[in-house]
Amino acid sequence: MDWKLSVVFLTAFLFSLDCCFCQTYVLDDTKGLGRVFDGIGGLSGGGATSRLLVNYAEPYRSQILDYLFKPNFGASLHILKVEIGGDAQTTDGTEPSHMHYENDENYFRGYEWWLMKEAKKRNPNITLIGLPWAFPGWVGHGKNWPYDFPDITASYVVNWILGAKQYHDLDIQYVGIWNERNYDAKYIKLLRYTLDKSGLERVRIIASDNLWEPIALSLLLDSELSRAVDVIGAHYPGTITVQNALKTQKQLWSSEDYSTFNDEVGGGCWARILNQNYVNGKMTATISWNLVASYYQELPFGRDGLMTAQEPWSGNYVVDSPIWITAHTTQFTQPGWTYLQTVGHLAQGGSYVALTNGKGSLTVVIETMTHDHSVCIRPPLPHFNVTSQNATFQLKGSFASIKELKVWRSQFNFKTKKPSFFEKLTPLTIKDGSFTLNLAEDEVYTLTTVTTGSKGSYPDPPPSARFPKVYKDDFDVRNPPFSEAPNFADQTGVFEYHVNLTDSGPHVFTLRQALTERPVTWAADADQTISVIGDYQWQNLEVTCDVFMENVKSSGVFIAARVDKGGQSIRSAKGVFFWVFADGTYKVTNDLAGQTVLAEGQSGTRAYGWYNLSLTVKGQYAAGMLNGYPLWKQAVVLTPKNGWAAIGTRSFELAQFDNFAVVAE
Ligand SMILES: *[C@@H]1O[C@H](CO)[C@@H](O)[C@H](O)[C@H]1NC(C)=O
Ligand SMILES: *[C@@H]1O[C@H](CO)[C@@H](O)[C@H](O)[C@H]1NC(C)=O
Ligand SMILES: *[C@@H]1O[C@H](CO)[C@@H](O)[C@H](O)[C@H]1NC(C)=O
Ligand SMILES: *[C@@H]1O[C@H](CO)[C@@H](O)[C@H](O)[C@H]1NC(C)=O
Ligand SMILES: *[C@@H]1O[C@H](CO)[C@@H](O)[C@H](O)[C@H]1NC(C)=O
Repeated sequence: MDWKLSVVFLTAFLFSLDCCFCQTYVLDDTKGLGRVFDGIGGLSGGGATSRLLVNYAEPYRSQILDYLFKPNFGASLHILKVEIGGDAQTTDGTEPSHMHYENDENYFRGYEWWLMKEAKKRNPNITLIGLPWAFPGWVGHGKNWPYDFPDITASYVVNWILGAKQYHDLDIQYVGIWNERNYDAKYIKLLRYTLDKSGLERVRIIASDNLWEPIALSLLLDSELSRAVDVIGAHYPGTITVQNALKTQKQLWSSEDYSTFNDEVGGGCWARILNQNYVNGKMTATISWNLVASYYQELPFGRDGLMTAQEPWSGNYVVDSPIWITAHTTQFTQPGWTYLQTVGHLAQGGSYVALTNGKGSLTVVIETMTHDHSVCIRPPLPHFNVTSQNATFQLKGSFASIKELKVWRSQFNFKTKKPSFFEKLTPLTIKDGSFTLNLAEDEVYTLTTVTTGSKGSYPDPPPSARFPKVYKDDFDVRNPPFSEAPNFADQTGVFEYHVNLTDSGPHVFTLRQALTERPVTWAADADQTISVIGDYQWQNLEVTCDVFMENVKSSGVFIAARVDKGGQSIRSAKGVFFWVFADGTYKVTNDLAGQTVLAEGQSGTRAYGWYNLSLTVKGQYAAGMLNGYPLWKQAVVLTPKNGWAAIGTRSFELAQFDNFAVVAE
């Protein structure tokens, strides 16, 4: 027997005296460390997932931001990834581009700039990432493809990074290729070249925000491509990676993950993957889609955020379990810390990771999430067993002399339905360099030398309430803080505040659909543009709006009620749509696509004139007025029974809206 083996034998023997029913796990840095930790983050966008957040009144908006970003308070995120708005539908809405047209540049659209600044205000060290989902039409020169003119696409993306610095003093540290779509090696190399040429050598490239392959193999075969790419980002990897990815020696990230309803099972999913993405897949960053569920809940993937803030009209928000699960890691580590090599699975199920700052600090995160209480939306989760267990941890190397560890615990308590999250327990005194934990199922523990953790709190926000039944917006905002009007959620096209200084009448300040061309899409945008607003449960209501068409030939605009779909399903939205056209006609249709006509006739409407439209829907009947006079009545509407109100245009054309109002029953 060699002496090393006998030491192991002796140690095991001693422990078995000390602790009859437990396994021992060694936390040791003497044989070197594991990979460098890059952080845990949230993703705003992909798409429009923070849409309603900006419309919260203070102090609630700041409170929500504190729960997300403030160090030692809540999720204390290390990374904020945002969508580089591309004017197209990207899951829950569209986000505006900084270049709607080829000769257009505007770095004040949307809310992602604001969000990045708010995050940085709270945590100056936060890592910022940008990724396009879609591109304005001109980037594709009429084709639904961004790589035919790779130099145009590269400078379009680099402009966004330069604009972030120039107008907002934001340093974007990482940029991606094209979310969950094909990459093009030539484009990636050109993007690298364009970044370098623009003085952005420090900006690193993530590829390809899709699967591990084929990018991993491409990097192994193409050394120039490998020099251009710093990080392999995979989506929903199910905690595992592939050999080729490991072989590249690149940083491996789960650059989009989670996407699970944020109840306790969602929290359990997040706890399991935050640990196991490293344990099983050597991933050193995990980013949640999405950051905060701030979109109408009936849109796709409702409440799939770290917390919920979907009621700016009431001020109500919910700090859901994923916030506190995040805190278990983020409050006690920093990007740049290093994982120990001694991380892994627990004998009776669950996992543990340990990280150090290399100067003696140690943070251990343990999770014992059971299968059924930690299922994520995707990929399918193979069965595994977790049972309660005693686990002994032995501290070795730099950690042998640690005398005390702070202890933070979350217990999901699925049986009693009385979970407790991120609770500070009595510190653990370490005797003889080891400690034993009695672990139950569905728990998360942090044991750490870091003393700065804290569970932040604010007084309860106002109670939840439905969208107001009487709602008006005249868009008369002189210096709007955002380009979009509150609560309007664009589903195809981009609706933004517009000022016409030559107008001497009542329509100086309006809302305008700004796109004149179909974008290079990511989802199936409609052929019409549409922005929805209000309460999805609305049935009987009157929608009123002034409209102005700007396309002489074939203009058309609509107001609508009971719109039943948004997001990626927007093409098949049904509802009651009241259209007027510049050729002097009107139509009432049961769908956005205009296939099912309920009524039609002459309206006398033309481009470059303002008209007042009014749509009333009650029970099975709808009626419409033009400039206060009945135009059509008793159109029969059997379905849908309820849905949002909306405004929009017949095609990608300029049109304006003013004095929008809803009165719902
Ligand atoms: C930012 O990073 C610096 C250097 O690592 C560190 O000293 C500082 O505490 C960090 N600030 C925050 C808010 O985390
Ligand atoms: C889990 O435990 C059950 C019951 O003891 C057993 O039948 C099953 O094979 C176990 N599954 C796994 C994946 O270990
Ligand atoms: C853990 O250890 C205690 C004694 O310290 C013992 O009573 C208990 O049964 C053990 N639990 C398990 C799950 O082995
Ligand atoms: C601006 O207002 C003027 C004067 O009413 C009008 O002629 C013009 O069509 C308006 N232009 C736009 C783009 O609204
Ligand atoms: C538009 O019409 C509605 C109903 O017919 C009326 O209540 C409203 O005052 C009109 N708005 C304008 C700006 O004329």
